[in-house]
Amino acid sequence: MMQYKVITLDGPGGCGKSTIAFKIAQHLGYQCLNSGMLYRLIAFEQLKHTSYSARALIHLIQKASIEFKLDSKALQQCMIYNKQDITTQLHMPEVASMASQLAQHPEIRAPLIELQQQFLNKTGLVAEGRDMGTCIFPQATLKCYLTATPEIRALRRQKQLIALGKRVNLGTLIESIVERDQRDESRSAAPMRPADDAFVIDTSKMTLDSVCSAVLEAFAIATAAGDSSSAD
Ligand code: DC
Repeated sequence: MMQYKVITLDGPGGCGKSTIAFKIAQHLGYQCLNSGMLYRLIAFEQLKHTSYSARALIHLIQKASIEFKLDSKALQQCMIYNKQDITTQLHMPEVASMASQLAQHPEIRAPLIELQQQFLNKTGLVAEGRDMGTCIFPQATLKCYLTATPEIRALRRQKQLIALGKRVNLGTLIESIVERDQRDESRSAAPMRPADDAFVIDTSKMTLDSVCSAVLEAFAIATAAGDSSSAD
């Protein structure tokens, strides 16, 4: 039995995971782990240092200072990397695409396992990504898997990018989303998929608040079930 409470939120990009994770973490007073940003950080470095091997990239990340900061106005986590806020750069489509390619490699994923598990502490954790429920926190109190159609996800992503002052064609976004999903689902190392015991939520026609309510309700049930089984 896991000592501390964890909610995992997995699923493809653009289904609202980050905002939902942020809101739930705020509501419960939990820490938040945005694992995609770690993969994006490695991609960001790879785009800067194109000749670096996976090992060299991991080494760079391991000796860097990495902090997550909550931005309550934008309802998102910011990454402060070696004292610089690189959140906007990490959201660029070319970084996302490179992150998805690098994330296929076990030599990139393996060193990140322990690093991600270290985010769990007694305050509780909302962990979001692709393999939080299947690989990083298999004993989580509640595992959720969020989905939405590629078209809806592309529209949401376009809105986010516009808010960051970037214009991107919708068709191009849909294409890159579909391509990224295929890569994330078909890789052999920790592929993106719902855990066997995950609560699957199709968010296509739901508001962010209704998804949060559904997750919180499921969490209350899972916590009560866990408490009663440990009292037996
Ligand atoms: O959630 P995101 O779009 O920021 O993630 C960027 C990429 O990182 C995504 O295409 C797949 C990869 N990723 C992963 O393989 N495992 C995770 N736990 C999180 C992200």
